[in-house]
Amino acid sequence: MLNGKQVLYSGMQATGTLTLGNYLGALKNWVNLNEEYECIYGVMDLHSLTVRQEPAAFRKNARSLYALYVAAGLDPEKNCIYYQSHVSGHAELSWILGCFTYMGELNRMTQFKDKALRHAENVNAGLYTYPVLMAADILLYQADVVPVGVDQKQHLEITRDIAQRFNAVYGDVFTIPEACIPKAGAKIMSLQDPQKKMSKSDENANATILLLDDKDTVIRKFKRAVTDSDTVVRYGEDKPGIRNLMDIYSCVTGKDYAAIEKEFEGRGYGEFKLATGEAVADELAPLQARYQELMADKAYLDGMIQRNDEKAEGYARKTLRKVQKKVGLTERRF
Ligand code: TYM
Repeated sequence: MLNGKQVLYSGMQATGTLTLGNYLGALKNWVNLNEEYECIYGVMDLHSLTVRQEPAAFRKNARSLYALYVAAGLDPEKNCIYYQSHVSGHAELSWILGCFTYMGELNRMTQFKDKALRHAENVNAGLYTYPVLMAADILLYQADVVPVGVDQKQHLEITRDIAQRFNAVYGDVFTIPEACIPKAGAKIMSLQDPQKKMSKSDENANATILLLDDKDTVIRKFKRAVTDSDTVVRYGEDKPGIRNLMDIYSCVTGKDYAAIEKEFEGRGYGEFKLATGEAVADELAPLQARYQELMADKAYLDGMIQRNDEKAEGYARKTLRKVQKKVGLTERRF
């Protein structure tokens, strides 16, 4: 509990720009849950270092991510939106938690296995211990709920296991967090290969909608989306491409699958793809306008970042000191 409310914690890697998957699977849900909880959101720049970054572009991406959180509707005056790397407690707690994590557990992480395959030239220890740092992020703020897309479920499970293991030895130090996965949009698929998750690292630009894509680009990408040879807009196991588009359309319009099937009865895929593209572009337009304003207002963003970094540091320090004391590290005198 923080300020009388349960704590919501989440974050995204500061790599490249966000996709429609990040938005529908996470960011939009954060905005929906925002009023209910005391919310803390991190720009996860330390996690991004597991893959080589070009320093100047990386710094720009981190700031852009901060602005996108705010542009999507998270008010930095009411929510603690901060940079992970500005709070040293993440790295410090991560070390301690690493000593409570088994290699067998980390070996089972499917994201590690995937990423190790994709970055075969750089399978570094950071990539391997990535879930421990993520556990530290969440546990440092005593989070109750963590809204994420379905691909992060396994990382939430290991976080809970680490926290329970620690608590079993030292008493109730950590709150055990729950993953909060949205009903629709938890796994948005590639527009070019509906068996694959939509991802910013996809080599095919048509596979991914970026949050900063303009209207024409969004519509063009949806028009080219891969579907099956049928023509009926129906939510079926055998129609992964249409299912994905229906998920997206449902998330942005709030209509359920039955309503969507009815709306497009007898109208075919072409019209449905165009309508989905338009609905997405309309949803993104105000966010993009707000984003441009924010990026132009250096003083405002800098002020918000500093204020929230300090706030986050205060919350984190409390948990970190408690953990250090519990494990028997000598108290520091400065
Ligand atoms: P990241 O940066 O890969 O993704 C950010 C969020 O977007 C969701 N997401 C998707 N949801 C639906 N469909 C998709 N195609 C899709 N692609 C991504 C992810 O599930 C995630 O919620 N390890 C995390 C970042 C992180 C974090 C944390 C999250 C670091 N520490 C602490 C929560 C709490 C990650 O790489 O997410």
